[in-house]
Amino acid sequence: MLILGIETSCDETSAAVVEETGDLARPWAIRSNVVASQVTLHREWGGVVPELASRQHIRDICGVVERALHEADVTWHDLGAIAVTQGPGLVGSLLVGVSFAKAAASAAGLPLVAVHHLAGHIESLVLQNGELPLPAVVLVVSGGHTSLYLVDRPGQYQRLSRTRDDAAGEAYDKVAKLLGLGYPGGPVIDRLARVGDDRAIPLPTTRLTHADRNAPDLKGDLDFSFSGLKTAVLRYVKGSGVLSGDGSDEKDSRPRQEIADICASFQRVVVTALIDRAFDAARRYSAKSIGVAGGVSANSRLRAELQMHGERREIPTFLPSLQLSTDNAAMIAAAGLRKFRAGVTAPQDLNADAALAL
Ligand code: KG4
Ligand code: ZN
Repeated sequence: MLILGIETSCDETSAAVVEETGDLARPWAIRSNVVASQVTLHREWGGVVPELASRQHIRDICGVVERALHEADVTWHDLGAIAVTQGPGLVGSLLVGVSFAKAAASAAGLPLVAVHHLAGHIESLVLQNGELPLPAVVLVVSGGHTSLYLVDRPGQYQRLSRTRDDAAGEAYDKVAKLLGLGYPGGPVIDRLARVGDDRAIPLPTTRLTHADRNAPDLKGDLDFSFSGLKTAVLRYVKGSGVLSGDGSDEKDSRPRQEIADICASFQRVVVTALIDRAFDAARRYSAKSIGVAGGVSANSRLRAELQMHGERREIPTFLPSLQLSTDNAAMIAAAGLRKFRAGVTAPQDLNADAALAL
């Protein structure tokens, strides 16, 4: 069967066609995966502007879907279902995808499948690598989320921990902004960190040992926190005089080496926190594999350290390709196929849900 996936939860309009292979170990293959990024639109504002994002999704959605069908060399008649991101995300953006998918499913007489965005990120690992050895611990780390999940059985996701404040990608974006490096911050910091000294700036690491008041079901010691680190970078930048302005002036002439050192030191602390918690969780839950997915999984240091620690501790580790790391519809189509085969479809009055729980 072929499924059309649609993703519009944030600032990428994406459509993809994914097919079932019939191979249980490697169940899905990508026929097309078209992504229209709005990055240049939001760059001048230093972050995603929700109203601009939803308007741009409206402009792009028809063309993106047509191209996805064309590149996959299929028509509407060849499809067996349509999967769409229901949430979480920006509600105006989500509504564009959900409305389009509902209309298309109704017009083409196809079943509709509602997908959780993070289930998509988790299934990107299977789309890329085939079924993971289970139980697996999966770290989903993006601009909006930093959470650990336990996958006991295919399609079952149990949340083990989350960030108490900023997501890791959000911290990258905010630190880049205060250093005047532009948006999105992750790729720029990643690049500059390669020429920086990661021990040059003393930045604090966070380890949370007490339970989370807002999520009493979670023990808490696998939780993340990045807002203190971001503040520490801000304090350092202000105190050291590296930054003469308020950080918003991109023409500011700061010594490039010191900026690179800040990037490298910040990145070391973030990656260490992510890797430590993921491997702690894997040990605690006797996981047979570890996966890392979401936009920040594109980070070069995180990818390298995951592989290195996995080899050292003799546990297989998995990553999506760079294209499948950031938001895309192929992962939504894959998660949609998983759900469809479990017999779950969405009602015709499906609504977007900005705070959808997994
Ligand atoms: O998954 P994603 O595309 O969107 C969300 O669901 O949030 O993730 C986007 C996030 C942004 O915060 C971006 O700065 C971060 O992923 N990111 C990176 C890298 N590439 C993207 N962070 C660190 N290093 C990278 N190479
Ligand atoms: Zn995402």
